[in-house]
Parts: sequence; structure tokens; C-alpha cells
Amino acid sequence: MSRSATGGGAYDVGVLVAGNWKMYKGPSETAAFLDAFDPPLGVDVVVCPPYVSLAVAVGRGVSVYAQNVHWSTEGAFTGEVSAEMLLELGVDGAIVGHSERRQHFGETDETVARRAEAALAAGLGVIACVGETGEERETGRTEAVLRRQLSVLPRHERLVIAYEPVWAIGTGRTATPQQAQDVHGFLRARLAALGAEGIAVLYGGSVKAANAGALFAMPDVDGGLVGGASLDATEFLAIAAA
Ligand code: PGA
Repeated sequence: MSRSATGGGAYDVGVLVAGNWKMYKGPSETAAFLDAFDPPLGVDVVVCPPYVSLAVAVGRGVSVYAQNVHWSTEGAFTGEVSAEMLLELGVDGAIVGHSERRQHFGETDETVARRAEAALAAGLGVIACVGETGEERETGRTEAVLRRQLSVLPRHERLVIAYEPVWAIGTGRTATPQQAQDVHGFLRARLAALGAEGIAVLYGGSVKAANAGALFAMPDVDGGLVGGASLDATEFLAIAAA
């Protein structure tokens, strides 16, 4: 498959590997990482540095996404950044709805949907995160949670879904390739039912070089959203090459 994440344009079918750097790497570390990073052919590589490092990341050979985006163009929203501001920097897109935003910063399905809609309307690409907690999985609510999280998201050619089981994020407990495939198959069917075929579905949660190949080989896994393992250029390159 081959997808293009560059220029905020539409994805065609392909492999996408995005590195979510969370609150790591200021501008100088970001520049050093990208100067040493040569993305493999045939894979769209996206990095998602903190806001302060976005400007220095643009124009260094990979697509650049912010880790969040507000729905207003401007206004009295302390600590927030708009899609228009990101576009002015040359940023290609934004993550929305990461589970850390939902858990620690009061993000809801409704605010995630508003962020996604505004970013897509402004011309950015969007990676929208969905995923169940360990407790939701253990009590048989995985599909209900994903159905709810998915239902509010806009259908759009520049939307990408990242399935990130919360119990697998930063824990070293990766979903098995079959667990990921089961959920990705479910999400693919839900998206088709919502009239949104052709949307890429990434897997995220303790992806590393050692497990990326097996996960990305599953038929409904279109790539990965990688946290911790994307901070090291050698490791991230090995994941992208997988
Ligand atoms: P992790 O994080 O790869 O460190 O588990 C994934 C994410 O939060 O996107």
C-alpha cells in the first residue's frame, strides 16, 4: 500500500508510521534527530514533536503533525493552538484524542470531534486516537467504547484512525498481532458502515522494532503510532523499515 501524508493531502492506501514524541525533545534535540534521520522509501513517516519544536521540524524530510489542535481560529483559550497557526508554520496535521489527553486533561468525545472537524476543515491531516482501557476490555466493553468514540468523528479523506488500547500505551504490554487485527477488522467494518471506507487505521501501544513487523503485517493494520520507541532515531527507523 502507498499513502502520502505530505502537504496535508489526501491519503491513498499505504503504510504510515507516526512518532508521537509527547513532552520530549525541544527544538535542538528535534533538529539533531531529524538531521540524522533518513526515512525509508515507501513509508510515510510523520513526527509529532511538542509545539515549541514544530517550526524546527518542518522542512526536514518528514511530515510534521502537532499533538493537539484547538477548534477555534483564535480566541481567549489559554494554552491552545489553532489549525491556522499550525498551517502558518508549515505543519501538515495534528493528533487529536490521545488517551493521555482524555485521561489527564479532560478531553471528551465531543471535544475530540470538534478538534478533528476544525483541523480537517482548515486543511490539516488528522490522526484521531481511539482505544479502550484495560478495565473496559476485561468487562467486555471494547467494541461499545470504540463504536462510541468512532461515531462522533467526521468522515474525511484526510482522517486517519489510531487504535491505541490504553492498557498497551507506555506499558510494554503490546496487543498481540491477532488482538490488533481483531479490533482493526471491527473498526474497518464500522468505518464502512459509516460510509468511510479507505480510512487508514494505525496501531499504537508499545510498538517497537521487535514487534512492528508482525503487527504491520496484519491485513487491517496500516501502520503505527509510536510513542517511546520513536524517540530514538535508530529504533524509529527500524520500525518504519518494518
Ligand atoms: P507507546 O505510546 O508507544 O510509548 O506505548 C504510544 C502512544 O501513546 O501513542
